[in-house]
Amino acid sequence: MYDKLFGFSAMALVLALGASASAQPVLTKENGAPAPENQRSQTAGGYGGPVLLQDFHLVEKLARFDRERIPERVVHARGAGAAGEFVSAGDASRYTAASLFSAKGKRTPVFARFSTVIHPAGSPETVRDPRGFAVKFYTDEGNWDLVGNNLDVFFIRDAIKFPDMVHSLKPSPVTNQQDPNRFFDFFQHQPESTFMLTQLYSDRGIPANYRQMDGSSVHALKLVNAKGEAFYAKLSWRSLNGVEYLATPEAVARVQGREWSHATRDLYESIQAGRHPRWELRAQIIPVSRVNDFRFNPLDPTKRWPEAELEPVVLGVMTLKAVPENYFQSTEQVAFSPGVMVPGIEASEDKLLQGRLFAYADTQRYRVGPNYQQLPVNAPRVAVKSHIQDGPMSLVAKRGEVNYEPSAQAPLLTAAVPRAPAPDLARLNQAFAKEENFYQAGEFYRALSPDARSRLVDNFAADLAQVKSEATRARILAHLRQADAEYGARVQEAVAARMGRS
Ligand code: HEM
Repeated sequence: MYDKLFGFSAMALVLALGASASAQPVLTKENGAPAPENQRSQTAGGYGGPVLLQDFHLVEKLARFDRERIPERVVHARGAGAAGEFVSAGDASRYTAASLFSAKGKRTPVFARFSTVIHPAGSPETVRDPRGFAVKFYTDEGNWDLVGNNLDVFFIRDAIKFPDMVHSLKPSPVTNQQDPNRFFDFFQHQPESTFMLTQLYSDRGIPANYRQMDGSSVHALKLVNAKGEAFYAKLSWRSLNGVEYLATPEAVARVQGREWSHATRDLYESIQAGRHPRWELRAQIIPVSRVNDFRFNPLDPTKRWPEAELEPVVLGVMTLKAVPENYFQSTEQVAFSPGVMVPGIEASEDKLLQGRLFAYADTQRYRVGPNYQQLPVNAPRVAVKSHIQDGPMSLVAKRGEVNYEPSAQAPLLTAAVPRAPAPDLARLNQAFAKEENFYQAGEFYRALSPDARSRLVDNFAADLAQVKSEATRARILAHLRQADAEYGARVQEAVAARMGRS
């Protein structure tokens, strides 16, 4: 009757009246049309009859729900993100043409994501695991991603070993449980992992939260100035919020017993309370010609660059100020890649980094989709004028006839970007001939307080004592002894004591 009288649907009338009578919003279907029903499916006959396929709203609702999840990250699945800004401490143009470092006080928006590495998206944040520390800088010359970790070295130095290493650390394909028998089976063949394992079993292996931890690029990057002079630089984030760790019993009993996402909560609550976390970005810098001047190879990511020898310069401060409004759209869909760089920053010849340059964008085309860079959290804040186009979920309209280059009708310039000179291979071959797998682990052990040494020994022994193969245990212990004789002997004793007990 209503419909006949006024010539439009009763629902539209309700809508129009509703809009003026009350501010209560109207539920719509995905096409924007008002949803007449959201509690009962359409049925044949009375409500007792079977459900009708014509209930498009029902089908849409179920089908969209079925597709809510995208593949989680193959590593670093569990994480928390926040937005903020980076303020440059000065003019670093002596080292790099990167515009974000060109003047004191220059501000660059950022999005940061912190993560654990091995376990899935819903796993506890108390695990002994490196923490990811990834930052996307939306610079005025395009995006730059600094994709690092909290620890300043890595387990291996060549990307070809990464999938095997991760398989060994991930839960077993049979039992779906992480198993020291599997990862020590792998690591017994990797003496270069001794320093990272030592750090991981020390207090550093369980940061108290994401705010109170440092970060590191791990790799040397290459900085290039406007004159084309190149420098290797290892970058680090120094927490201005203090640095805290959880000793194992505390982590497990107190924090994990209460909740699984204490680090995410800590980050969010701190930002929401106006206690904005801050980190200082620092760079240790050497001219590329000096790559052979050290006991270690500076392009080996299993090595720390000692600060006493290579004093860091401060590049600026990052402050995180905003919790994302939507976790999925920001933190889940954000895509960081070591390959995303701006003029003045290049990759070094580090073999682990070189593999990473490929892997991230590759997984993101699969995990998020080939147009992932168009999503708001990933899109640069400057215009993109490329002729890459189309594909699933293409959001950005590319205008005009000319979708190719070069063109006389719509010419585009290519910028004069400073580039590092071709590497000196003889010099690099000499650098890569250095292995030095153990001495930095020994230095690290000897610098710990007596209590911290005891905790490291206990933590290491707790996992190594679960390894059934005597030969595997012996190889790992031999690595520790080569780092420091006392360290190896103490872990050996602690393992024996635990095995004797069991
Ligand atoms: C060859 C060695 C490595 C490979 C192949 C590799 C591969 C990957 C892949 C495929 C992802 C998932 C990315 C995504 O889904 O968006 C990832 C995430 C990540 N990786 Fe690596 N990785 C390697 C080494 C490293 C190293 C040495 C570091 C630290 C310096 C690191 C830090 C991270 C971080 C922080 C994330 C999480 C980024 C985020 O928050 O979205 N990775 N890695």
